[in-house]
Amino acid sequence: MLTCYDCATARLMEQAEIDSLLVGDTYAEVCLGHSTTLPATMDHMVTLAAAVRRGSPTAYLVGDMPYLSYQVCPEEAIRNGGKFMADAGCDCVKIEVDRRLVKTVEAMSAATLPVMAHLGLKPQSIQTTGGYRVQGKRAGDALGIVEDAKMMEDAGAIALLLEAVPVEVAATIAESTELPVIGICSGPHCDGQVLVMHDMLGYGGGHPPRSVKQYAQVHDTFVDAFRAYAKDVATEAFPSVENSIAMDPAELAEFQRALESRHG
Ligand code: KIV
Repeated sequence: MLTCYDCATARLMEQAEIDSLLVGDTYAEVCLGHSTTLPATMDHMVTLAAAVRRGSPTAYLVGDMPYLSYQVCPEEAIRNGGKFMADAGCDCVKIEVDRRLVKTVEAMSAATLPVMAHLGLKPQSIQTTGGYRVQGKRAGDALGIVEDAKMMEDAGAIALLLEAVPVEVAATIAESTELPVIGICSGPHCDGQVLVMHDMLGYGGGHPPRSVKQYAQVHDTFVDAFRAYAKDVATEAFPSVENSIAMDPAELAEFQRALESRHG
C-alpha cells in the first residue's frame, strides 16, 4: 500500500500494480504544507479519493477519514464514511481508533461500511498524546494496543493499520488476528506495508522518519528539470521550431494578404 493523492500519480501506481492506495490525510502535510494532518477536510478528502479512483480503477482504495469527521458520533461517522464509498468509489474507510470508538466501529460496520482500524501512533491525536512518538514501548501500553486491536476485530473492523509500534507488538497482533494487518514503521511481521509516497520518493523536502526506506530522490530530478527549463527560456533555447505551431502555407498566405490590405 502507498499513499496517493491525485489521478496522475494513481495512474503510475496502477501501472506499477500497487495493491492498495490510501488517500491519506497526510495530504494536509505533504501537499498543503501544514505541520499536522488536522486541517484536512471531508471535501478535500472525498474529492482526492475520487480523483485517485479515476487514475487507478483496480487498486483496493482506502479513504482516510479526516479529523472530527467520525469522532463526534456514530451517525456522523456513518454519513461521512458513506461519502467515501458512494461519491469516491472507495473500498473501505480508515479511522484512527482506540477502545473508546468501539461503538462507532460497530455502528459503521452494521451500516455496511468496511472500516480499517488505525492503531498505535494516531496523528489526529498528537495534541493529546504528546506528539509524534512511538506507541506501546512500555509493557502496559503495549498490552493496551493489543487489547484495542482485538476489540476492533470484535467490533467488525475488516483490517488493522499499525503505525509506529514496536516490532514485538506488531508481531503479537498480526499472529493473534484473522484480519489483514498493514504496518508503517512497525516492523516486518505485518501482512502488508504502507509508506507515504512523498517520503519513499524523496519528494517535497520533508524529513521522513528514520524507519522509512527511500526508493528514489525525485526532489533533485525535479529541481534540475525546473532549472533547465528556466535557463532554456531565458536563453531562448525553448521554444524551438519543433516546439512551435506553424500555420498551413495557404492559410498563412491569405493571412498575410489580409494584413497587407488592412494596412493599405
Ligand atoms: O494519512 C496517512 O497517510 C496515514 C499513513 C501514515 C498510514 O494514515
